[in-house]
Amino acid sequence: MKRAPASVRKRIGRLRAEIEHHNHRYHVLDDPEIPDAEYDRMMVELRALESEHPHLVTPDSPTQRVGGAPVSGFAEVRHRTPMLSLDNAFSREEVEAFDRRVRERLEADRDIEYACEPKLDGLAVSLTYRNGTLELGATRGDGAVGEDVTHNIRTIQSVPLRLAGRGWPTLLEARGEVFMSLAGFREMNRRAADKGEKVFVNPRNAAAGSLRQLDPRLAASRPLEIFFYGTGLAEGRKLPGRHSEILATMRDWGLRTSPEMRVVEGVDGMLGYYEQMGRRRARLPYQIDGVVYKVDSVARQRELGFIARAPRWAIAHKFPAEEEMTRVKAIEWQVGRTGALTPVARLEPVFVGGATVSNATLHNFDELQRKDVRVGDMVILRRAGDVIPEVVRVILEKRPSKTSIVRLPAACPVCGSSVEREEGEAIARCTGALVCSAQLKESLRHFASRRAMDIEGLGTSLIDQLVDAGLVENPADLYRLKVQQLEELERMGAKSAANIIESLGRSKATTLARFLFALGIRDVGESTADALARHFRTLEALRQATVSQIEEVPDIGPITAGHVHAFFAEKRNARVIDDLVRLGVHWPETRGAAARSNVLGGKTFVLTGALSSLSRDQAGDRIRELGGKVSGSVSKKTDYVVAGSEPGSKLRKATELGVKILGEDEFLRMLGDGG
Ligand code: IVH
Repeated sequence: MKRAPASVRKRIGRLRAEIEHHNHRYHVLDDPEIPDAEYDRMMVELRALESEHPHLVTPDSPTQRVGGAPVSGFAEVRHRTPMLSLDNAFSREEVEAFDRRVRERLEADRDIEYACEPKLDGLAVSLTYRNGTLELGATRGDGAVGEDVTHNIRTIQSVPLRLAGRGWPTLLEARGEVFMSLAGFREMNRRAADKGEKVFVNPRNAAAGSLRQLDPRLAASRPLEIFFYGTGLAEGRKLPGRHSEILATMRDWGLRTSPEMRVVEGVDGMLGYYEQMGRRRARLPYQIDGVVYKVDSVARQRELGFIARAPRWAIAHKFPAEEEMTRVKAIEWQVGRTGALTPVARLEPVFVGGATVSNATLHNFDELQRKDVRVGDMVILRRAGDVIPEVVRVILEKRPSKTSIVRLPAACPVCGSSVEREEGEAIARCTGALVCSAQLKESLRHFASRRAMDIEGLGTSLIDQLVDAGLVENPADLYRLKVQQLEELERMGAKSAANIIESLGRSKATTLARFLFALGIRDVGESTADALARHFRTLEALRQATVSQIEEVPDIGPITAGHVHAFFAEKRNARVIDDLVRLGVHWPETRGAAARSNVLGGKTFVLTGALSSLSRDQAGDRIRELGGKVSGSVSKKTDYVVAGSEPGSKLRKATELGVKILGEDEFLRMLGDGG
């Protein structure tokens, strides 16, 4: 036999010690230090080394045991049938290999039927029902012996204390996963934070921690739920011959099972299910970390049997990890349109949630302080679905010895103006306003954006070039640009230069609401801009209004009114506005419209499909000008759904709810534009 080199022995020793340490943090303290993906990688490495050097395997190696050691404080429970674990597959190839092994062992010549279920991220439990009455609830523990948590299990609303229906086994071990919904988790952590108590790092640890509370009153206040996914011992009644039927039967007995369970055929069926659940994952109200495939036929399961700690007839197919760890290389400050300074962590690139991430926002200075992120720190990074990546927390155990706390800069990193933070505000701001090129660039981006002045072709990089070249110092300068000036810029051809001048020209015809929104007044979003335009009708009236007159606008409070007033009072702003109007920015005369500006009298419209005579944005503008509201989704409160060609599901919803549907002609007539 090949003797392992000392370096391999050393590596194995290190891995075992590290894994044991993390096992303790995870299973006993319910407070893991590192992401699961990191733990999985250590286990994979240890297993690989042990299978290369089998003589080094020891009975106490973490590869040889199923779960965590039980904590003291609970009575021990020996499971009547052991609670097994599952092997993991991380790729399509591993699923194919699983299916091949199954078919070879069964000598099957046709596709196998598999029951597919989500793999819930919670805590495995075994509930014993004797003559239909809940007698015992236990955690998995090490698979053979778990902890008696009956008193806490009883507090879970979805656990029946007595089975429903009839025909249940006289003795039944019902197996399932206790978990916490995302909403329940957030709510619980919010309450804990309010009281200055410890918050949990994720729903799974919150569920585990709650279930292992010694005081059942505490467990009862935690929003725990359960899905059952199988049985252990079942005495006194023969269960159905298919896993999917067993689940249906359990459901009849009042044991909640996952509504996502499907029976599929072969590898294609399994991979199809994986894809579909992967897409649904971000929308589920609870966390799942993969899917589980089980051979549906119980006879075939028996034939396949078990190896060591897992059945041969089932496998967990894991999703790419949503949490990974990486190092913070730098923390930089980004300056936004209103001067707000946002700390951004520059990271060593890491693959997480299906994408490589190298930056993550830290939101604001308070958040940075609360999380105490420092340059050089190892952090846990989370990227779930399309949500922007987030630094969850620092791994303090891995903090280098010399780090320095990041401070709020006294001067703006872009323009050097002083940075101010108002009493009680989380956000610090650069006071440089339009002197600050970062603020200027952001405000120009906003000014040009689709829902503001809608200047086609004026994107981020062109704005950077224009500001850096000193051609544009304020929004009015955009309308002073000449084709030649643009042509001289790098990467700009004659054709594109001409196109941009043309779209600048086109953008001059706008609405008062869009114009007000484009100015980027603090706290003035689209709907506030709209309310201002509707209330004052002309720009002049708004410019002359006092704070208290502005406060009369529906939905505008004193703070926003103050911002609006201050904006127009500021001389530089006044000059830019005058210039914009002089350079030709205009909107329909509101006098004529004023008389009918309330013809739609607050009615709510939803648009679906394409209209032939105007774009959706234009249609929205018209509705708002005439005093109507536009909403993105159909509800009972919707007054009209305007259906263009190829309408979407909104039309179906409208029909279901009995909402009035308008065709294009009818809609135009209502606007007074046609027919
Ligand atoms: S079946 C013999 N089904 O995953 C089969 N387990 O990694 C044993 N889990 O201990 C388990 N959802 O805590 C099964 N639909 C599901 C599951 C599931 C989550 C957990 C369970 C188990 C662990 C194995």
